Amino acid sequence: MAAYRPPHIPSSEITPLSAWLNRRQFIAAAGLAAGGLIATKALGAPLTTKPGAYKVDEKTTPREDVTTYNNFYEFGLDKGDPAKLSGDFKPRPWTIKVDGMVAKPATFDIDTLIAEFPLEERIYRMRCVEAWSMVIPWDGFPLAALLDKVEPLGSAKYVAFETIVRPSEMPGQSGLFQSLNWPYVEGLRLDEARHPLTLLAVGLYGETLPNQNGAPIRLVVPWKYGFKGIKSIVRITLTDQQPKNTWQITNPGEYGFYANVNPEVDHPRWSQATERRIGEGGFFSAGARRPTLPFNGYAEDVASLYSGMDLRANF
Ligand code: MTE
Repeated sequence: MAAYRPPHIPSSEITPLSAWLNRRQFIAAAGLAAGGLIATKALGAPLTTKPGAYKVDEKTTPREDVTTYNNFYEFGLDKGDPAKLSGDFKPRPWTIKVDGMVAKPATFDIDTLIAEFPLEERIYRMRCVEAWSMVIPWDGFPLAALLDKVEPLGSAKYVAFETIVRPSEMPGQSGLFQSLNWPYVEGLRLDEARHPLTLLAVGLYGETLPNQNGAPIRLVVPWKYGFKGIKSIVRITLTDQQPKNTWQITNPGEYGFYANVNPEVDHPRWSQATERRIGEGGFFSAGARRPTLPFNGYAEDVASLYSGMDLRANF
């Protein structure tokens, strides 16, 4: 096996999201985890899915890019780290606890859920807060289907999500290299969570979700910036309090609760008016920029969720 070398990424490619985190720690972590290096081209098990209700008529981003250009800080800060350093992560056996303000709290085995809910392929436009985008064919089922099983109480207003904490398999979580507070957490309003576009994905491109994309189950909310798509979920809690998300906790001036894609509201450090489509115009080139669409092109479906709200204040 070839020796692992930390990727040489031009400074223009360094994630603005993490620019203020201690990058050197992760390069050291990458070196230590070299023993766990895996081939990133391995395909997952095929899934049985049917075409879903939503698809965008745009070229899908090559699978190679979708699975090697990732943000998953539990495995490192560089875009290539999750594919290189997630080989030791074990997505089975896996359960998700759904609790809080519900009539029937329960813990579900992932394979039981996959057997119970028909999997749909949804081709979604995805827009990262860092101003790049992809088009990804996800395989999954609506979050609403899972929420229905636990019967949310009338008092529940929000849904909080939590990622697994497993430092022995996630080098970015180990005490020595820790940067964010773990677990990674996210939240949605209950009506956003129940919206038919909101998906729990267990696969992409018709195959089991690769570790670096959030195996075995992750959230996909296509009208919000990518950081809302919490990966490797182990707990979902219904609550009457607005839950904080990891980036809001870390840097509240820059990241809000809603995180709706909005070309008119700039991030404090960069414009959100345009985006670079990954896989177009060369992997590391600036490529042609395209305009970013309100609600990432899903305004017709979701704008009514926010009628009367000031989306500059509620960013
Ligand atoms: N979930 C966890 N647990 N940890 C993370 O670091 N990164 C988020 C989100 N979910 C992240 C996470 C960010 S910033 C983005 S852009 C998307 O995952 C990226 O998903 P992808 O790698 O499948 O494109």
